[in-house]
Amino acid sequence: MDQITIRMPDDFHLHVRDGAMLEGVIHHTVARFARAIIMPNLKPPVVTVSDAALYRERIQKVAGNAFEPLMTLYLTDQTNPQTIEAAKKSGFIHGVKLYPSGATTNSDAGVRELAGMDSVFRAMEEVDLPLLIHAEVTDPSIDIFARETVFLDRFLRKLPEKFPRLRIVFEHITTAAGAEFVTGAPPTVAATITPHHLLLNRNALFVGGIRPHNYCLPVLKKETDRLALMEAATSGNPRFFAGTDSAPHEKSTKENACGCAGIYNAHAAVELYAEAFDSMGALDKLEGFMSESGARFYGLPLNNRKLKLIRKNQIIPAAYNFAGLSVVPMRSGETISWSIEDAFE
Ligand code: NCD
Ligand code: ZN
Repeated sequence: MDQITIRMPDDFHLHVRDGAMLEGVIHHTVARFARAIIMPNLKPPVVTVSDAALYRERIQKVAGNAFEPLMTLYLTDQTNPQTIEAAKKSGFIHGVKLYPSGATTNSDAGVRELAGMDSVFRAMEEVDLPLLIHAEVTDPSIDIFARETVFLDRFLRKLPEKFPRLRIVFEHITTAAGAEFVTGAPPTVAATITPHHLLLNRNALFVGGIRPHNYCLPVLKKETDRLALMEAATSGNPRFFAGTDSAPHEKSTKENACGCAGIYNAHAAVELYAEAFDSMGALDKLEGFMSESGARFYGLPLNNRKLKLIRKNQIIPAAYNFAGLSVVPMRSGETISWSIEDAFE
């Protein structure tokens, strides 16, 4: 297959930031996705319905009408059931994001005591608002490559039993154990998978020297984990769907003695997924993963527009300049073997 036309995809995990960065990055997403779940880890974070309403307006102003931002709230120790009810009533908030405090970029305000969140989880279950989880423990004594599996064992496995109607998205899964858990979990549990965790393993962090642009959280894992994610994504199981976790950082904050976590892939996210699926001989599963399974899990209508991809190399620039902000994208200076030809009604 040298070309494929799919329903316009949705990105179920995206960082678009704010201000000049937002204005720079959003066009890449709009050219490829009809909707995206917008991560709330701004500084300060998006914690109230009115924060989300204002952020949504700022996104819409630059994105235009063809794109729908699906807003989320950032869960803190102070979030209460009233906020959850108000979020559901808003109609534009589609999930609540749990960052264990300190787990990743801008997560200081995140949850310190998971045990204290039961009333909030119950309220989410009641109003049917999905819980999106950055599933890593923050305990510095735990090996960084084990933080997802330890979180899984300590917390996540028990959650569906305790809250059987709560819809849970295990975000950006990175391990074979994570994929196996989702496969065996009840249908209320789903997972997003990023293009970089499908295409890279942890060796990519150290090719000829340290590679800060391949550093993200959860950190890249072993080749066996990558292969398990490839199997899950291309399996046709609707509980796995696309969430790019495109997370732009200015070049100097990544090429730094203490470089930020986050990989920018919005410039070619669909093409990277196409390349991954093609390498598995599974292009026939691409549309379900990119454009259908996530929408169904979130209870959203399917998009009508279409996107046509062709097998044709595209050369990725070394960096993008967004109003003076330099962002080094995934595959910087290299090629991707699929390209977008057209988006149409
Ligand atoms: C994200 C960011 O930069 O906001 N970074 C990342 O490495 N993925 C935060 C996150 O999703 O963990
Ligand atoms: Zn993220």
